[in-house]
Amino acid sequence: MNKIKFLILALIFCACSIKKDTNNTMLTINEVEEKLKVSVDIFDEERSEKFISPRSIEDDSIIMVPAKDWTSGFFPGELWMMYELTKDEFWKEVATKYTLPLEQEKLNGKTHDMGFKVYCSFGKAWELTKNPQYRDILVQSAKTLATRFNPSVGCIRSWDHNSDKWDYPVIIDNMMNLELLFWAAKETGNKMYKEIAIRHAQTTMQNHFREDHSTYHVVDYHPETGQVENRHTHQGYAHESAWSRGQAWGLYGYTMVFRETQDSVFLAQAEKIASFILNHPNLPEHKIPYWDFNAPEIPNEPYDASAAAVIGSALYELSTYSNNGEAYLKAADKILESLSSPEFLADPIKNHGFLLMHSTGSKPHHSEIDVPLVYADYYFIEMFLRKSHLNTL
Ligand code: GLY
Repeated sequence: MNKIKFLILALIFCACSIKKDTNNTMLTINEVEEKLKVSVDIFDEERSEKFISPRSIEDDSIIMVPAKDWTSGFFPGELWMMYELTKDEFWKEVATKYTLPLEQEKLNGKTHDMGFKVYCSFGKAWELTKNPQYRDILVQSAKTLATRFNPSVGCIRSWDHNSDKWDYPVIIDNMMNLELLFWAAKETGNKMYKEIAIRHAQTTMQNHFREDHSTYHVVDYHPETGQVENRHTHQGYAHESAWSRGQAWGLYGYTMVFRETQDSVFLAQAEKIASFILNHPNLPEHKIPYWDFNAPEIPNEPYDASAAAVIGSALYELSTYSNNGEAYLKAADKILESLSSPEFLADPIKNHGFLLMHSTGSKPHHSEIDVPLVYADYYFIEMFLRKSHLNTL
């Protein structure tokens, strides 16, 4: 090929790349903000003193939940993130309004979901305002969560329900609640919180993962000996299948534990989980997983956009720690682009106030199948926030 021909081809190639970039379907922060304003208008109409936060839809109606529901902190968290992204006082005001009614949860020791509820809401509120009232609520919440730790098992107990089935159930989702404990250790100087978090992460790494680095959902322990009694699923297709959101919680959890400990064992664990997810033959090209990687009717199975958003947000963070960072960044960008496309992103007026469509809560329980879920929206917005921190937005 002569030089001139080569130059012309190179110019055409560059022009195509530029065109592709300007055509990309990624939303701007302003567009997300406009959508979230519509969400606030819709949810303001629905909330009451008891039912304070949106969760999903059922039979064409919005499901609002009380403070004790595990999803109650996500919408307040979305509002705080929008405040961080825009610095507009409007968002601070509305975020405060949705956050304060969750305070009572700081004393609720009946669940492990403290981090989801309190750290996603008051945690973000504290980070952005340094209001000491929020700090006190968070410290008390960590204290309450720590009461669920059993040193003989080396884990925080997840659930108290289904006691006929499990003695001491620990679910992979529980990794997400450790962030509150790491925060409390730094804030109070009490090392106990960090020790509990690390021990939980180590025990989970040892017992929850299969050889292919996929995770079980539920591991049931003997509460006195700490022996594993059962490895089950609850929301997945089968005990031996890979429930998509479980893989997502694991990826996000170990990435966060590496951030907090700088222990390379946890980085390696996060990388192995990422490899399982990103190389799985059942992960579609758009990188939004079906609700379970082993769901039997793939490709005729519902998606789980919430798992995709959790995975995408985790990959943005992991990309900053790993030697494989470029690939993770590319995968996260692909997820964000897919979630921002009309296949997954809705007009919130038509989607009962939610941003994303096509998430799945618990297919085996015939619950929340192919619907909007508030935590999909939360991690979707966190993807924008994390991307903006990476300066690639
Ligand atoms: N933590 C509950 C769920 O992921 O559905």
